[in-house]
Amino acid sequence: MAAHELKIGLLVGREWSFPPAFIEEVARRNVGVTVEYVQLGGTQMNEPNPYRVIVDRISHEVPYYRSYLKNAVLQGVKVINDPFMWTADDKFFEASLATQLGVASPKTIVLPNKDYVPGIKHDESLRNLMYPLNWDWIVSVIGMPCILKDAHGGGWRDVYAVYSIDELIEKYNDSGMLTMIVQEFIAWENYARCMCLGQDEIHVMKYDPRERRYHENHDFSPELYARIEKDARTLVQALGYDMNTVEFAVRDGVPYAIDFMNPAPDMDVNSLGETHFRWMVTHMADLAIRLAKSNDSTLAHYDWTKASATKAAPKRKASASKSSAAKTKASATKPAAKAKPAAKKPAARKKADG
Ligand SMILES: Nc1ncnc2c1ncn2[C@@H]1O[C@H](COP(=O)(O)OP(=O)(O)OP(=O)(O)O)[C@@H](O)[C@H]1O
Ligand SMILES: [Mg+2]
Repeated sequence: MAAHELKIGLLVGREWSFPPAFIEEVARRNVGVTVEYVQLGGTQMNEPNPYRVIVDRISHEVPYYRSYLKNAVLQGVKVINDPFMWTADDKFFEASLATQLGVASPKTIVLPNKDYVPGIKHDESLRNLMYPLNWDWIVSVIGMPCILKDAHGGGWRDVYAVYSIDELIEKYNDSGMLTMIVQEFIAWENYARCMCLGQDEIHVMKYDPRERRYHENHDFSPELYARIEKDARTLVQALGYDMNTVEFAVRDGVPYAIDFMNPAPDMDVNSLGETHFRWMVTHMADLAIRLAKSNDSTLAHYDWTKASATKAAPKRKASASKSSAAKTKASATKPAAKAKPAAKKPAARKKADG
């Protein structure tokens, strides 16, 4: 029986409240799914992975975990969140995407980096860059005050509200090798943070960024609430994140998407408060169990193994005319199984859904 046990792996950092509560919640359901902390010490290429789902809370700070997870994807694991999208993402791309999707987003410009790795010679290596930057143009597009922040940032590091062009240049000059964006400052009257799970469930919360505190109740009108919910869902579905917080600053009744690249969102009981924390724990358990029992795999979104699948197809036809039926069957099933590792689980799904 143990061979068919559906396992969820958990990668965690320093957080202490969410992981044990999540493990306990999944165990309490008693539905044939277990959770454990992933144990790693070097990974072989194409190493099979014992997990159906891995919940990743820390690979942004432990790059080896990101490599491990990419291989896990290739082995058919459903990884929350997709390590490829997370690696490719940044707040400038997200601002462009939001705007294309009809979600209000502050005007945003991405700036050339200030500093570079040793070996970059400014007059030889950077011939594609104009120098000096046209700060008047930047400020004329974005306005003042504005926000200067790291396009890949999190945890409020390197986020500055600036009130003059001199201040903007001064902060930019201190930004080192980061890729900074300049963004329209949204003078908000209200603020929302949504926990978004499974690209569909949206838990809208009132948030106070000044105190970095969630309110237990919100005061959003039904129309505003509905728009926040809809815009958050649009964004997470486009990005493909299964666990993310999406933040909106509300100005003149319009929710502007401020930060929606939080694929390892804060799930600490101390900042969320008991009510929101319980929501996260129970709904993360629902999601992880549902995915563990499904055939969903992150690999399905990519074409890497397509070549081996198409290579196998003509072979199947050719051998059908020459070899025995049994031989044909053997050569046809082997590559297909390799190309789609997740296809091994249909029995488990049937059981769960039925
Ligand atoms: N365009 C903006 N207009 C107004 N305020 C902003 C803007 N961008 C950022 N802020 C403020 O700065 C805070 C931090 O910005 P942001 O969320 O982008 O950074 P972060 O490092 O990802 O933070 P977090 O850890 O909260 O996710 C926001 O919560 C918001 O209060
Ligand atoms: Mg963030």
